[in-house]
Amino acid sequence: MSEDNRKPVNKEVSTDGTSKDSSPKVKRVRTSSRAKQGSRGRTTQTKPSVKSIAKPNFNVEPTTSFVRNLKGKRPIVGLTAYDTIMASAVSQANVDFILVGDSLGTTVLGFDTTIPVTIDDMIRHTAAVRRANPHCLLVADLPFGEASLSFDRLLDSCRKLLQQGGADAIKIEGGRDVADDIEKLVATGIPVMGHIGLLPQTVKAIGGYRKFGETKEEAESIYTDAITLEEAGCFAIIAEMLDQQVANKLSKQILPPLIGIGCGDGCDGQILVTTDVLGWSHGQVPKFVKPYLNMNKLVSDALGKYVDDVRFKKENS
Ligand code: KIV
Repeated sequence: MSEDNRKPVNKEVSTDGTSKDSSPKVKRVRTSSRAKQGSRGRTTQTKPSVKSIAKPNFNVEPTTSFVRNLKGKRPIVGLTAYDTIMASAVSQANVDFILVGDSLGTTVLGFDTTIPVTIDDMIRHTAAVRRANPHCLLVADLPFGEASLSFDRLLDSCRKLLQQGGADAIKIEGGRDVADDIEKLVATGIPVMGHIGLLPQTVKAIGGYRKFGETKEEAESIYTDAITLEEAGCFAIIAEMLDQQVANKLSKQILPPLIGIGCGDGCDGQILVTTDVLGWSHGQVPKFVKPYLNMNKLVSDALGKYVDDVRFKKENS
């Protein structure tokens, strides 16, 4: 589990594991009010191993303070994962954190939005990711509705994600509307990652996916959300689909790292949905994603070959 992250203590963690004080020199400007294999006992000839992925020489620690203190030192990188094999690959790629996003609803469960994803779905998938023993921080998304009923319900859902799912921290969508509850969670010892800009859980209410912060009013509103989340004790904040200039400016104005998705490359770090990066998708992929692989094609070719081999009694390779 991660430590309490209420007070932003900024310590540089060097590659030999030692730390030294190094507060990020950010100017605060306030304009607004506030692979494991063989579990079935079978052996195979070739092991499609994720271990072949080269491991860059970056020290990664599974703590919120490690992620928070990367701000101003090097870009932070996160990816999503939804099951053990994917988490194993993502961890071995040496990310700074894994997010079990409620994007699992659209990426692997076949829903049109993230709204149908339940707390039980999140617990099950978070636990599957934990079983990969990732060596980085493991953040679980709080699904739709769980922050809206009562603080007790919110606390209970976060507690389950930590205790039953094995998450180190919880991500919660929303700005000043959820900041008071986040402050109480943080005081209880639950590390929280914020999420501002486009909030996929509100997509029905806002009528679709779009950029945020393009007007002065909306940019100021986003700034207020970010500052409020900082004050509530978030150790990092995801910014989704923010206007690039707003995102760049905001990352210099707040203490927690601003981790962008679809905001250009000026934030303190980046996160993407892993299936999008891999070209492993049955739906639409956002325009800002650069796929690194066409896994749809690779898998379809391989499976088609297997089916043909069996059907036409060719030798399996
Ligand atoms: O659910 C998710 O995967 C997310 C990312 C898009 C940040 O919230």
